[in-house]
Amino acid sequence: MTGGKSSWFAGLAGVVLAGLGCLSLGFVESSWAQEKPAADPAVARARKQVQMLDDLYKTAIVLITEHYVKEDSDLAAGSAFQALFKAMKDKGYHEVRLLDATGEPYEEKNKPQDDFEKAAIKALKAGKANYEEIVTEDGAKYLRIATPIPVVMKKCTLCHDNYNAAKPGEAIGALGYKLKIE
Ligand code: HEC
Repeated sequence: MTGGKSSWFAGLAGVVLAGLGCLSLGFVESSWAQEKPAADPAVARARKQVQMLDDLYKTAIVLITEHYVKEDSDLAAGSAFQALFKAMKDKGYHEVRLLDATGEPYEEKNKPQDDFEKAAIKALKAGKANYEEIVTEDGAKYLRIATPIPVVMKKCTLCHDNYNAAKPGEAIGALGYKLKIE
């Protein structure tokens, strides 16, 4: 685990496993927000919203995997969350992509696709806490941020054999967010 950068997610899993639940979520590092001082308050708000969503989604994925997934034929938290991400997109809130960083995804569609996703996976694999770009589409500005997913518990390897080769704390995947700056 380098410099504790992606350690919060692994740490979070540890906390959940220890049965302490959400009480200790305050320890989540905010280093990635501090990395780039926000000149534009709208960008700062979007970034803060992503940080909240990232904690929410990752905490829920860990809890579901821990308590409901027993064998590889069970519905994976990843599959359930693809449906949740689609619902959030359809309602116009934000977009989230579940991305592979190993080159051997469960689903081909989860491979990094555009330049942003490819650059993000490269940066996260190199140990960065997050990767972001601000893009303009049809006159509207969007914040795109990717955050790392390490192998948070042994159970992940139940369905993802290839995670056995990952170093502790290494990003094997990412969540890629796209959010309107407003
Ligand atoms: C019960 C089997 C199962 C378990 C356990 C499981 N996954 Fe997955 N995972 C899947 C499936 C199925 C998908 C594809 C979901 C989709 O895109 O529809 C997936 C997709 C992913 C992806 C996107 C890249 C890819 O391979 O398609 C990541 C990253 C990921 N899982 C991480 C994890 C982590 C971390 C854990 C442990 C917390 C975990 N998974 C546990 C089945 C599982």
